Amino acid sequence: MSTATAPTVALEGVGMDFMTKTGPFTALRDISLSLAAGSFTTLLGPSGCGKSTLLRIIADVLEPTSGTVDLFGMTARQARTSGLFGFVFQDPVLLPWRSALGNVELPLESQGVGRAERRERAMAVLQLVGLDGFEGNLPSKLSGGMARRVAIARALVVEPSILFLDEPFNGLDELRRRQMNVELQRIWSATDTTAVLVTHDVAEAVFLSDTVVVMGRNPGHVITRHEIDLPRPRLLDEALSPAFIAHERALTELLAGETRNAVDE
Ligand SMILES: Nc1ncnc2c1ncn2[C@@H]1O[C@H](COP(=O)(O)OP(=O)(O)OP(=O)(O)O)[C@@H](O)[C@H]1O
Ligand SMILES: [Mg+2]
Repeated sequence: MSTATAPTVALEGVGMDFMTKTGPFTALRDISLSLAAGSFTTLLGPSGCGKSTLLRIIADVLEPTSGTVDLFGMTARQARTSGLFGFVFQDPVLLPWRSALGNVELPLESQGVGRAERRERAMAVLQLVGLDGFEGNLPSKLSGGMARRVAIARALVVEPSILFLDEPFNGLDELRRRQMNVELQRIWSATDTTAVLVTHDVAEAVFLSDTVVVMGRNPGHVITRHEIDLPRPRLLDEALSPAFIAHERALTELLAGETRNAVDE
């Protein structure tokens, strides 16, 4: 079928100017990007290069100043209102008075899904993220890593065609972060979701991605697209393999070049 090869996300000449007290500020300039259906893409770049802004534009949280966004042949607005999106923010932002299960059921309530189906679907994704047995816990009774899993489950319960993740593992210690990377790879592989992740973490980008979009600052732009051809499923100890390290080096070098340029300005 021709749709199988059509890109899920196609951006053309996207730019973003913010109005500030001191005048317009260009956060993104001329971003063109095409992501394949079912792929895992990471936006990697230094702080302030516009990663979150770009993610928000694709997810129809922000409207770009220029350019076009096409998702499955729809506008971002049409795709969002068709319920095709799942969003995981940097902060898990769970409702503290609701159990893990209650938090995961929330988007289904908004969609008007009936009680029995809600419960069944929420339990299924909680199991997928490895939280069965903890569904009754309030957020205060969940560890940081568990709260992230609940946030991921809540995004997945609507069976999104695109899953947006903005630094979902920030604040976790190194070991938990790597464990969550393994979990996210497993969850993503078990669904047909196209994933778009924002991170600063080079190892996370290499471990998870098919494609890493390396971004630079002043104004935010795409430096290059780096493909990670490592076989899947990827295991944690493969992070020590020469092929993995070579990808890390290449990305680190691209980012360092960007930082040097910024300092030279
Ligand atoms: N609503 C806004 N109004 C004005 N400027 C903004 C707004 N949102 C973002 N910016 C600016 O746009 C630039 C890009 O911000 P953005 O949050 O997208 O960067 P980022 O790459 O996600 O950074 P970080 O890694 O620190 O999260 C920054 O200079 C930021 O200050
Ligand atoms: Mg950000």
